[in-house]
Amino acid sequence: MNYSKKNVTQIDVQGKKVLLRCDFNVPQDKATGAITDDKRIRAALPTIQYLLEHKAAVVACSHLGKPKGTWKESLTLAPVAERLQELLGQPVIFAKDIVGEDAKAKAAALQPGQIMLLENLRFDPREEKNDPSFAKELAEFGEIYVSDAFGTVHRAHASTAGVAAYLPAVSGFLIGRELEVMGKALDDPARPFVAILGGAKVSDKIAVIENLLNKADKILIGGGMAYTFIKAQGFEVGSSLLEADKVDFAAQMIEKAKAKGVELLLPVDTIVADSFAADAAAQTVGVDAIPEGWMGLDIGPKTIEAFQKAIAGAGTIVWNGPMGVFEFDRFAEGTRAVARAVAQSGGVSIVGGGDSAAAVEQLGFADQITHISTGGGASLEFLEGKELPGVACLMDE
Ligand code: 3PG
Repeated sequence: MNYSKKNVTQIDVQGKKVLLRCDFNVPQDKATGAITDDKRIRAALPTIQYLLEHKAAVVACSHLGKPKGTWKESLTLAPVAERLQELLGQPVIFAKDIVGEDAKAKAAALQPGQIMLLENLRFDPREEKNDPSFAKELAEFGEIYVSDAFGTVHRAHASTAGVAAYLPAVSGFLIGRELEVMGKALDDPARPFVAILGGAKVSDKIAVIENLLNKADKILIGGGMAYTFIKAQGFEVGSSLLEADKVDFAAQMIEKAKAKGVELLLPVDTIVADSFAADAAAQTVGVDAIPEGWMGLDIGPKTIEAFQKAIAGAGTIVWNGPMGVFEFDRFAEGTRAVARAVAQSGGVSIVGGGDSAAAVEQLGFADQITHISTGGGASLEFLEGKELPGVACLMDE
């Protein structure tokens, strides 16, 4: 994929109306609706500030959650407008609709240096269908389209891809940074290149494993997905997470890694529990001795040591997916130790994926990581080497 896309500094925005797609899909407290993590809003600030300083009139837009084409008051972007206003220190005009009368009137009155936010794009069923009529209506808000919604570039929706057919389309600083750091890791990494993969399911990571087998020097596998690999080695996994239909795939990947000279590190020991609970009875066992009825919820100390060693000498590290059930403190040590090792390694470190980013933040290592991606699904598809519609639609440099 071509990552060299024209950015917002390479187009004249002075006095122009700019349609800005952000990813303001932020987590909210279910009961109160309060934003629990405003990282994605903060990540959009450099582009917004650049546009406002250069006297563009900014019509910002985003989705929030999955309202599935219907109006859902609990998923209004109003709290985002409020938070953005606090962070920017200037008014954010909020439209009560998306392409309706209120949005149109407010956009018509918008002055250079001012910003407004449209209501949740996914309230309109045409957004996710990439309906050209919706893309065209959105395009009428701007003379230029700037996309900074990295978290959503894997979606071919009206606001992330369709709209680029009607306006000159450039990237903002966030997309620029994400593409630069992750693109370099995949195309021209400082070696050794160590990939750490975790999370619950092998099936979510198939394309990532296949792509990274052609790029990485070492692949470390932990988390729930490791038990399918352990089974592929011929061991029993008790009641651990197992995707029986992926055991053959795991066996093939073990063979492929050998053939390609990629070091594939699998857990050698694991912490097993007698139930999926924070206070479950737990013991450490070798992967060849997982008792029946027990489930692996974290990697064990010998595995941690081997992973730490591999990470310590890395030139580039890409990490996607936790090593265990880190939400339960007693099964968080594997993820914590890996986070610490990644943070302390002298290499370029990239953490992608919603869960691993959350783990790194929750465990207090975020400021020691080179780059924490704002994309969950998007960074995963990037690592798969897939073309991302929200990037492909932007003008080449
Ligand atoms: C995300 O949170 O990963 C992005 O905002 C995309 O959201 P989606 O998975 O609902 O398309």
